[in-house]
Amino acid sequence: LPLLGLTALLAYLLGSVPFGLVMARLFGLGDLRRVGSGNIGATNVLRTGNKPAAFLTLVLDAGKGAIAVLVARAAFGEDAAQLAGFAAFLGHCFPVFLGFKGGKGVATFLGTLLALAWPIGLAACATWAVTAALFRISSLAALVAAALSPVMAWLLGVPTAIVFCAALASLIFIRHHANIARLARGEEPRIGKKT
Ligand code: G3P
Repeated sequence: LPLLGLTALLAYLLGSVPFGLVMARLFGLGDLRRVGSGNIGATNVLRTGNKPAAFLTLVLDAGKGAIAVLVARAAFGEDAAQLAGFAAFLGHCFPVFLGFKGGKGVATFLGTLLALAWPIGLAACATWAVTAALFRISSLAALVAAALSPVMAWLLGVPTAIVFCAALASLIFIRHHANIARLARGEEPRIGKKT
């Protein structure tokens, strides 16, 4: 049990690394929290117009979730993998390094899912991509993919992932409350629109 606690703590710390802020700084884009929505994710990096920085943010924020799952699984098995994925996700949303004011968890959610059960991860990525292609709104694509993820876990025959998906999806909805309000007002900006 102490080892599981340590695994969760390390996964949380890894998840806490705000790659969007790091990339924005490295690419000379300034403080991301002063751009667009103020969020620390890839969608907001894209609002600076820097596609490589946005792409790297997406890959690294997803990658930290995936690494946490894969390392925990190799060391302690499947339950530890879920715990680590959840902890990394919490780290991204409530990072200790930023006074617990973090992101919305979408990339980290997709990364953990890909590592935890890749068919669900692929289905969630595809759902995000199709919704984004249709509506050009990142938050809407994230909300649709998150909401459908427990159903996908069930349909794809991974019942052990249903609760995991439902928990992360619920937090993703909570983290998107401002986006949901903008969506309801028809004021949510399209992907890549500069601010
Ligand atoms: O990944 C977060 C995305 O769903 C919304 O980001 O910056 O539009 O609030 P943003």
